[in-house]
Amino acid sequence: MPEIVKGLKDVYLDTTESSFIDGQVGKLLYRGYDIHDLAEKSTFEEVVYLLLYGDLPSKEQLAAFDAELRASRRIPDGIITVLEVMKAAHPMDALRTGISALAGYDVAEVADNSVEATIRKGIRLTAQGPTIVAAHHRLRQGLEPLAPNPDLSHAGNFLYMMFGELPDEETTGLLDVDFILHAEHGANASAFAARVTASTISDLHSAVVTGVGTLKGPAHGGAAEEVMKMSLDIGNPENAEEYARNHLESGGRIMGFGHRVYRAEDPRARHLRDRAQALGEKKGEPRWFQILSHLEQKTMLPYRDRGICVNVDFFAGAIYYLLDIRTTCSSPFSHLAASPAGRCSAWSSTRTTS
Ligand code: ACO
Repeated sequence: MPEIVKGLKDVYLDTTESSFIDGQVGKLLYRGYDIHDLAEKSTFEEVVYLLLYGDLPSKEQLAAFDAELRASRRIPDGIITVLEVMKAAHPMDALRTGISALAGYDVAEVADNSVEATIRKGIRLTAQGPTIVAAHHRLRQGLEPLAPNPDLSHAGNFLYMMFGELPDEETTGLLDVDFILHAEHGANASAFAARVTASTISDLHSAVVTGVGTLKGPAHGGAAEEVMKMSLDIGNPENAEEYARNHLESGGRIMGFGHRVYRAEDPRARHLRDRAQALGEKKGEPRWFQILSHLEQKTMLPYRDRGICVNVDFFAGAIYYLLDIRTTCSSPFSHLAASPAGRCSAWSSTRTTS
């Protein structure tokens, strides 16, 4: 009988130079650079360049690369129409569908699997992904999608396209770090799934669609959303212990804890912990961090010895929530309630996509 390894635990499928993970000590490198250095000293644009080309860019290389990203942000009107149809859908479904539909506008290169064409398509998809998410976010509130602002960075432009205001430096920096932390993670479930698709000599759009569909699951990237749902259910720090105990005793898992590879703390979590706390205080909603803190420092403390520690998603969900990046349109605390267009109800048939 061949050995069956359910969940592919400890199965290696390939080597990569783009990242290195030591799960025992909680170490993550992108192309040899420590994630801590990149999170504190780099920008998302630099990190994407590093991942694509293997080295950090010179000043001139970064300027040219950044200009290419900025020039590639727009999405065709037809994609906005697709997103209109998807406006009741989960944002990850809209992203997955938007990327799939973009293949129809990339006919010249979609089936070209040369390294050069794949990098060009990768740059376009990196630039267009936030435009899809932001357009969908606005459409589902009955607001017009906004054209990308070429004066802003990748993170700054995303915030601008979401909320229609020039973002402050602090919020832009927070999202930039979040993007850096999520840029690469070896053969995680979504990258593995994407590689299966790519290995059939399919095409980049198909591989990314596969990856997005896999990332959505609550055991993977969808955990960030689940952590926030759990925090909303808990409601107050005083309720955290009883809620978590009952949940664990009935066989549930505390989302945002545990990882297939890390047996120590996920090194990415460090960069979101203090930022989640600071953001909660700034927004006058410190309780979400207090709930998370209680779970980390008290309820889940005994799990550390078993190698079940916080992962990157634990603090990310609260950050997105506090930034008003929501999975659903209605939320008891949403600033959207004050929006003139109301929540997810009104729909303007006259749309400009400029
Ligand atoms: N809460 C409570 N117990 C847990 C948790 C958790 N979050 N995670 C694992 N365990 C327990 C399991 O119940 C199991 O216990 P048992 O041996 O008594 O049956 C043991 O730890 C091993 O669990 P596995 O699922 O085999 O661990 P694995 O390492 O394969 O799973 C996974 C990793 C899927 C991430 C898991 O830890 C989990 O479900 N976590 C919650 C979801 C989550 O946060 N996902 C995001 C991961 S990071 C990312 O994808 C970006």
